[in-house]
Amino acid sequence: MRGTLLELRPGALADNARRARALAGKARVFAMVKADGYGHGLGLAARALAHQVDGLGVAVMEEAQALRHLGLAHPLLVAEGFFDAEELALAARLHAEVVVHSPWQVDLLAARPQPVGVWLKVNTGMNRLGMAPDLARAQAARLRALKGVRLLGVMTHFAGADLEDDPLTPRQLELARALAEELGVPLSAANSAALIRYPEARVGRVRPGIMLYGSSPFPWRAAADLDLRVTQRFSARLIAINPVQPGDSVGYGATWTATAPGRIGVVAVGYGDGYPRHAPNGTPLAVNGQRTRLAGRVSMDMITVDLDGIDARVGDEVELWGDVVSVDEVAAACGTISYELFCQVTARPVRVITES
Ligand SMILES: Cc1ncc(COP(=O)(O)O)c(C=O)c1O
Repeated sequence: MRGTLLELRPGALADNARRARALAGKARVFAMVKADGYGHGLGLAARALAHQVDGLGVAVMEEAQALRHLGLAHPLLVAEGFFDAEELALAARLHAEVVVHSPWQVDLLAARPQPVGVWLKVNTGMNRLGMAPDLARAQAARLRALKGVRLLGVMTHFAGADLEDDPLTPRQLELARALAEELGVPLSAANSAALIRYPEARVGRVRPGIMLYGSSPFPWRAAADLDLRVTQRFSARLIAINPVQPGDSVGYGATWTATAPGRIGVVAVGYGDGYPRHAPNGTPLAVNGQRTRLAGRVSMDMITVDLDGIDARVGDEVELWGDVVSVDEVAAACGTISYELFCQVTARPVRVITES
């Protein structure tokens, strides 16, 4: 067997959800499981998290439908709401709460009112999805006049709660809070970063995502310091070890060149498995628990690693991210975020579920 594995840890997901729950205090917790449970598998993530939280959040209706097909009866929030009248009717059948972010969605509801719970999305500074407070106020009045439609709350999303210097979040929170108060409904604002960092955002309904998957929302703070457990470990095996001499280059494009006699390990993982192709030379990984680095460009089915000073034999295990090398370190080396690495793991690595 090739031995390229994605080990998944439902117990760690549940522990991280308990951590979010403890931080949230009296706020209700909706665990975000969109994008296939941040790449952990929708069913696995939802089942591991659901019992620790009050509900689950997805981005799109198909994800809500998939959760119902898996037999999950928990409250569901669809963060982008419905895209057309058919999806609106489907939301009602699925008993899924929907986000309404634009007047055109209120028009659809007005044309064919459905018995759905609605979260009104207000733009407070992200300037992506959501209506300005005045427009949201007007749409709230329209929604409230519709038979069967329940206005459950005001929702907003933070643009910079993960920034070390964050002038945005307090202002965004205040704008959203004021509108929720005026309309007399709960507020839903906090993502993981805000939940951890801003006690005043622990109100209404919080929506943590990335912290549940054992990754830090903050580039400047490690997940272990936040008491988060690793939920996935990506690993592969050494399939060849080759000597190199000074001046020898390695891999496509000859991007890495030996400066001393050494050994290069060939590992059975590549971008065809979801290891990022743009990972540069020096990206950390661990061979038999010993930290070393990528040497040469990532191929579809293989990567090459520097075995200088490393005790290694063919067949040995290489951790791409997990316990020794955090996913956040790899993401930083690649100029991306853990979210993207999680989402990019392809179907090829064998999923192994560890119960602990
Ligand atoms: C609307 C919404 N709420 C909550 C989250 C969770 O954010 P995070 O994973 O940063 O905790 C997301 C994810 O991007 C989101 O889109």
